[in-house]
Amino acid sequence: MSDKTAIIIGASRGIGLGFAKHLVDRGYRVIATERSRSDDLHAAAEASDGAITIANCDVTDMASVKALGDHVEAGALDLLIMNAGIMGERPQPLDALTRENVADIVHTNATAPIQAALTLLPQLKEGGTIAMLTSKMGSIDDSSGGVNLYRVSKAAQNIFARSLFEEHAKDRGVGVLSLHPGWVQTDMGGPNALIDVDTSVSGMLDVIESESEPRHVFLAYDGSPVPW
Ligand SMILES: NC(=O)c1ccc[n+]([C@@H]2O[C@H](COP(=O)([O-])OP(=O)(O)OC[C@H]3O[C@@H](n4cnc5c(N)ncnc54)[C@H](OP(=O)(O)O)[C@@H]3O)[C@@H](O)[C@H]2O)c1
Repeated sequence: MSDKTAIIIGASRGIGLGFAKHLVDRGYRVIATERSRSDDLHAAAEASDGAITIANCDVTDMASVKALGDHVEAGALDLLIMNAGIMGERPQPLDALTRENVADIVHTNATAPIQAALTLLPQLKEGGTIAMLTSKMGSIDDSSGGVNLYRVSKAAQNIFARSLFEEHAKDRGVGVLSLHPGWVQTDMGGPNALIDVDTSVSGMLDVIESESEPRHVFLAYDGSPVPW
């Protein structure tokens, strides 16, 4: 095992679970979170020879986020992956916007992940990376339409991520990557999605590991830039 350490918030299934498995293969020690017991994550931990530690965390519960910091010494974390996210009820037409449904999805997908990243920033080492799982659907340039709440939440996350980098992370030498995982075969992406979890996750980890200078950019899993 290498001396690299990663925290993944939201690793019970889908892309987050894929990150946990691939990071172990790449030699990381991984703190991987679930909200309720995930048999798949526990099986991955059992197969990892101690490399995966499972913690309980809801990204909207800052006490559970703060407790994750106890697993890593301050300044010792290489990679923080903010993977947790929700699609919300579909469809999401403009004439069905309510104060409650906007607040719920924007809080879970944008505000809480940024607050969590800020809370755990002291654990990151100089040269470390915060990877924010966003979506091409949060790009104003993307005209796929529909799921307006989800799209707004990821656009908001992208803006918060820029502020996180400019106002907090840059001075500490920590990069912030807004990553589009592709359209991925998970519970959220559905069975007709274009790529599998392994393709998405190995691509994103190659992107993360190829960064040399701290910056904030919006990149897809294959390293191609995504328009804001
Ligand atoms: N799949 C795609 O095609 C696609 C495309 C673009 C972007 N993304 C983004 O990629 C990320 C992962 O997507 P996915 O496809 O793997 O989704 P998924 O299969 O629906 O899994 C979502 C993950 O997020 C966790 N989560 C949700 N709300 C949480 C909360 N409040 N606190 C902690 N964890 C929470 C879930 O935990 P539970 O099991 O406890 O619910 C689960 O581990 C998301 O941010 C998503 O928006 C996905």
